Amino acid sequence: MNPKEFARRRKRLMDVMGEQSIAIIPTAPVRQRNRDVEHTFRPDSDFYYLTGFPEPESVAALVPGREQGEFVLFCRERDPEMEQWNGARAGLEGACDTYQADDAFPISDLDDILPGLLENRATVYYAMGYYPEFDQRMIRWVNRVRQRARAGKSVPAEFVALDQIVHDMRLVKSPAEVRTMKQAMAITARAHERAMRACRPGKMEYEIEAELLYEFYRGGGRDCAYPPIVAGGANACVLHYVTNRDALKDGDLLLIDAGAELDCYAADITRTFPVNGKFTREQRAVYDIVLDAQEAAIDKVRPGNHWNEPHEAAVKVLTAGLAHLGLLKGRTRTLVSQEKYRKFYMHRTGHWLGMDVHDVGDYRIDGEWRVLEPGMVLTVEPGLYISPGDRKTPKRWQGIGIRIEDDVLVGKDGPVVLTDAPKAVDDIEAIVGSGS
Ligand code: GLY
Ligand code: MN
Ligand code: MN
Repeated sequence: MNPKEFARRRKRLMDVMGEQSIAIIPTAPVRQRNRDVEHTFRPDSDFYYLTGFPEPESVAALVPGREQGEFVLFCRERDPEMEQWNGARAGLEGACDTYQADDAFPISDLDDILPGLLENRATVYYAMGYYPEFDQRMIRWVNRVRQRARAGKSVPAEFVALDQIVHDMRLVKSPAEVRTMKQAMAITARAHERAMRACRPGKMEYEIEAELLYEFYRGGGRDCAYPPIVAGGANACVLHYVTNRDALKDGDLLLIDAGAELDCYAADITRTFPVNGKFTREQRAVYDIVLDAQEAAIDKVRPGNHWNEPHEAAVKVLTAGLAHLGLLKGRTRTLVSQEKYRKFYMHRTGHWLGMDVHDVGDYRIDGEWRVLEPGMVLTVEPGLYISPGDRKTPKRWQGIGIRIEDDVLVGKDGPVVLTDAPKAVDDIEAIVGSGS
């Protein structure tokens, strides 16, 4: 992403903060996986949103009106020996030249320098509670400033939750963000199609997972936005099934919920298809209902509609469908108001999507559902899950779990579906198992 994009975001934030303030934004810590092996480092989303700086052990300070520069970046210094082992670092020079920091300091000097930046700033913008160790350091720095109050330095009087402001910014995507998300989504759609082609009875769920990962990696998406769900048959009724270790059975469906992450932006697609390439009558009947529900929900993704309208539309179609199949008994309106559908549809129809798969941003404002605005991106993912073993449900429906999920941009004139993986019954039946 162009450095100007990050500069624009910082300027917007600093305009909101005003003079006499400072924002402190740490990146994520490096986490140990086992013994001396670390998890792959992933920057903190808010930090990366404001800086584009990809390295661990870094902290940004935004200091509006500061004479020596408003964007201060603390990061690791160059170190040829360490770089020989672990790869290049931007260093202080790179922080300024490549990432457009006005001023850069070694991360090892943070404790010495940060209290000085806090001095005489009335308001501190900081997201408390995400990184407990960093919270403790913040408290120590503020106390250091207090100790110096006798020397005439003024102590910050106000602490404001930075996350609220940044998350509101992140909720509405810029054209550059939408472009990056579309890349992640294109890789993901290709991966789903590849998985469909590779699918056969007798294969293992993890073999299909490998097909997804192959396509993610090939497209440059070397991280998943979340652990892939590859759930054959009744495993699909376990909503967060990630074991992915069972054999795929002839006559079962396969539900795949998987998304690549690219440059810290997520895609999130679910497709459900028959393992042997041909829907049974029951599977097809449930699939048609979920697909209709998704269409109805997507149609509600329009500026001016509120957050819950797509969900309400989906619930109505799903409930009517369940009644039509005889799985619920009664009038649709009553079944909806009594939430009888929840036995088969126990999650919501979507969530915000962005740098985090379940992205930031409030769903309600002052107790009211949030109104959709152009630039917001959300998922639309209705499903029906008919768990096995429920004596009240006829056997032939049991073990059918279906979800269909696409990523949708709130466009000026209505919904813009950003994801394009096969989902029409004819397309699916033509594609599944067609690979070598
Ligand atoms: N893959 C997580 C979700 O669909 O919400
Ligand atoms: Mn989702
Ligand atoms: Mn998903």
